[in-house]
Amino acid sequence: MKKFISCEDASDFQLLIAKALEYKSNPFKDVTLGKGKRMGLLFLNPSMRTRLSTEIAAKNLGMDVIVFNVGQDGWALEFEDEAIMSGTTVEHVKDAAPILGKYFDVLGIRTFPSLKNKEDDYSELYINQFVKYSGVPVVSLESATLHPLQSLTDLITIQEVFEEKSHAFRPASRSLAEGRQPEKPKIVLTWAPHVKALPQCVANSFSQWINAWGGAEFVITHPEDYELDTRFTKGAKITHDQDDALKNADFVYVKNWSTFSDYGKIYCNDPDWMLTSEKLASTNNAKIMHCLPVRRNVELSDEVLDSAASLVTQQAGNRVWAAQAVLVEILLGLGH
Ligand code: CP
Repeated sequence: MKKFISCEDASDFQLLIAKALEYKSNPFKDVTLGKGKRMGLLFLNPSMRTRLSTEIAAKNLGMDVIVFNVGQDGWALEFEDEAIMSGTTVEHVKDAAPILGKYFDVLGIRTFPSLKNKEDDYSELYINQFVKYSGVPVVSLESATLHPLQSLTDLITIQEVFEEKSHAFRPASRSLAEGRQPEKPKIVLTWAPHVKALPQCVANSFSQWINAWGGAEFVITHPEDYELDTRFTKGAKITHDQDDALKNADFVYVKNWSTFSDYGKIYCNDPDWMLTSEKLASTNNAKIMHCLPVRRNVELSDEVLDSAASLVTQQAGNRVWAAQAVLVEILLGLGH
């Protein structure tokens, strides 16, 4: 693998998921693979889970890791080609990225969208400039429109849990003897209220991965005016009726996003869209997912988050194994 900025960079999802689960059972089985290789984790924006899980994953593979909070400690970077740099930006990415490519064998980069310039955000200007000028593999730690490490984690968690859930209803021995595959889970991505205008990237990315995987009945529900980019949602059923969407759901993924068409706005912020226990009554004992951080009692009620149905901690724990599976592919691509 030469870069990981979208699900299109992962040629074989099942292989990545299988590797991730192997690392979950045996974290240090490839502890010498990354020996002598250094990863730079560059943050233009805040993070807890991505930063720590990626560092742990790289160290589990024997890599050296340096975290650099570019947005806080570095020079303000310019990303536009041919910019006249007479404003607040101090260093062009064209100058900075090749230097980072000399210091590091692999770069991980977090760059949020502006939510002001849709064209720049959806062209993935920032991360693509690092890909173009650094000369080393780039791993997205969440970019303007996508969050592939999160989505891979989500898919790992869904498969892990659905397998357990299927086995609970149908013993594995019987299932195998009958040569039957577990049925497809129903996965619902539901918009939730929030106090701030948030990027669409987690919702875009989750939709992209679930559609590409094809192993689920996939429904997206949101209020009017919160349509996502159809490049990512194509293949999913989309409805503005949250109650109808939740019927018989096996997994409910909760996430806020701002408007895509009239870019980066909050239109309706109806508190009735918060996910509560009452709403889950019509589901198939659905498991609840969220990428975190979460605004309690705004996006999801305490009752749901603190219930046995919540997978949020398992999901965040799986971030290590998803990152480790991806970094192995990147290391193999370096010629190990
Ligand atoms: N889910 C996620 O990316 O969390 P952080 O922003 O804390 O990295």
